[in-house]
Amino acid sequence: MKGLILSGGTGTRLRPITFTSAKQLVPIANKPILFYAIETVGDAGITDIGIIVGDTKEEVKETVGDGSAFGVKITYIEQEAPLGLAHAVKIAEDFIAGDSFVMFLGDNLIKEGIAGLVEEFERDKPNCQILLAHVENPEQFGVAELTSDGKVERLIEKPKDPPSDLALVGVYMFDPHIFEAVKAIKPSWRDELEITDAIQYLLEKGYDVRPHVIDGWWKDTGKLDDILEANRIMLEGIETDIRGTVDADSTLHGRVVIEEGAHITNSVIRGPAIIGKNSEITGSYVGPFTAIHNNVRLVGSEVEHSIILADCVIENLGGRLEGSLLGRNVKLHKSDTKPRAFRLMVGDNSQVEVV
Ligand code: G1P
Repeated sequence: MKGLILSGGTGTRLRPITFTSAKQLVPIANKPILFYAIETVGDAGITDIGIIVGDTKEEVKETVGDGSAFGVKITYIEQEAPLGLAHAVKIAEDFIAGDSFVMFLGDNLIKEGIAGLVEEFERDKPNCQILLAHVENPEQFGVAELTSDGKVERLIEKPKDPPSDLALVGVYMFDPHIFEAVKAIKPSWRDELEITDAIQYLLEKGYDVRPHVIDGWWKDTGKLDDILEANRIMLEGIETDIRGTVDADSTLHGRVVIEEGAHITNSVIRGPAIIGKNSEITGSYVGPFTAIHNNVRLVGSEVEHSIILADCVIENLGGRLEGSLLGRNVKLHKSDTKPRAFRLMVGDNSQVEVV
């Protein structure tokens, strides 16, 4: 069985972060989201993995490499534009070469992994296996309608009036019949070849599409709140590991990771939290569920439940930063100049909330 991980797309819901970086490379607990996907597929025993890349291909290739760091072999497949998940399958036909495969959306996280599900698929050999999860906002996903005896009756992409609360999780298992389906369907209203429509085609042709409702934690990290929640869940699993220096005037509570070269001076860190390589935390408070990436300077400030990307400088903030995602190299500081006013230079589609 092969793996197909999708890492194209434009990440519109995460602008401005995605103006300069791939959404799949946003770090969750200081590790790119995409790495979790590669590890999850690798942990299921699948070592031949294709990654679909788009505009951000150079950055993805540079960050992921040939897969040897993950114990897998990676082949990059270029998609000329984000034309849909079924289009990604279509252009991967040569790579899949008649095998069965698991398709994994590179912005999805499944905490419990997929090893058992892959095993089940290989044992029972249906034509397709889909994963479903109960959600509160089904209109934002592909949605499944099941019959009373649990068979898939119908799949609809982002329905205005969802027939159930069962969302399609971004992990799918297929045998080669999916190629017949992706060639037969037409683009949707959003001008994409939808994988949901391709699976609906399989259903209509009488192929065996097995549903599997998962009850573990799953997240599509397309939006800020989802990224922060994913960060919180992944930080829950860290173990204390101190590789940098912590001075005598600082205290660490709970599970905290301090990476190499980081310096904690006169500060309080309350875990679960992670401080990246060569970062300096001075006279500050870092609260639970915070991931500070590499080479960040935090001075006289308080941060909690946030993700701060590399090279940011935060100095003498008057209040506490909370529920925030700062892109790379952001400068944030309190100024004493008059008149007292907010001064901002933020990118298109930024969100700023002040009190
Ligand atoms: C895609 C699929 C959708 C699925 C979701 C899971 O949505 O089209 O059916 O429920 O992934 O993450 P998109 O992220 O393209 O909006």
